[in-house]
Amino acid sequence: MSAPRRPLVAGNWKMHKTAGEARDACAALAALVGGAPGIDVAVCPPFTALQAASEALAGSPIAVYAQNVHEADQGAHTGEISAAMLRDAGAAGALVGHSERRAAGDTDDQVAARVRAGIDAGLLIVMCCGESLDTRRAGDTQAWVTRQVRAGLSQATAADVDRLVIAYEPIWAIGTGETATPEQAQEACAIVRAVAGEVVDGQALRVLYGGSVNPANAAELMACPDVDGALVGGASLDPESFAAIVAAAS
Ligand code: PGA
Repeated sequence: MSAPRRPLVAGNWKMHKTAGEARDACAALAALVGGAPGIDVAVCPPFTALQAASEALAGSPIAVYAQNVHEADQGAHTGEISAAMLRDAGAAGALVGHSERRAAGDTDDQVAARVRAGIDAGLLIVMCCGESLDTRRAGDTQAWVTRQVRAGLSQATAADVDRLVIAYEPIWAIGTGETATPEQAQEACAIVRAVAGEVVDGQALRVLYGGSVNPANAAELMACPDVDGALVGGASLDPESFAAIVAAAS
């Protein structure tokens, strides 16, 4: 039997908070969260606030992840940031393939290359997937998520399992206040685990739910057997509400 999966609660700040605001939020969060025994906690500030956040969280168990990473080491990629640059700024991980990035043009091939490059550079990668409302209504959720997970892991190997997390985030639940029911979250996260299990040990892989997670619904979502934590957007901006979600995971 595999060891129990350690929950992860990550806060995706999206395009919010300057470096100074990040410093204040991280100091407040560190005080509220304390030692966070038994779970992993991370915040994902914008690139410009990574350094400030990691300095403010030094000595706390809360990690800092970026919201994206480019697949190249360096070069002529105006506006992009490499994994080595993220590590230099204090990031221990990165999101890849968030639906807002995919909507801005990130392709399945880029997602796969970024998963590979990020893990190779020593980052923990949270690869995101999830269907639109039209896809769900058409009954194509399973096929869609299966395709995205296979594509995203197309350059991954079994050895990557400890540096890989997959977040299932239905697009219709992101920022809408409309959360997936625990049954919907469980069903989709089980699909993600099974499909990822073609490449890595599915029982060891952490699978998160994301989409309008808040202090009131976090506990029941994370109690689902295949949900190993949460990727939190809006509710992660306020340290008190994010700390309440972390407490629900403990
Ligand atoms: P939300 O965002 O919690 O605001 O719905 C989640 C996400 O996009 O990661």
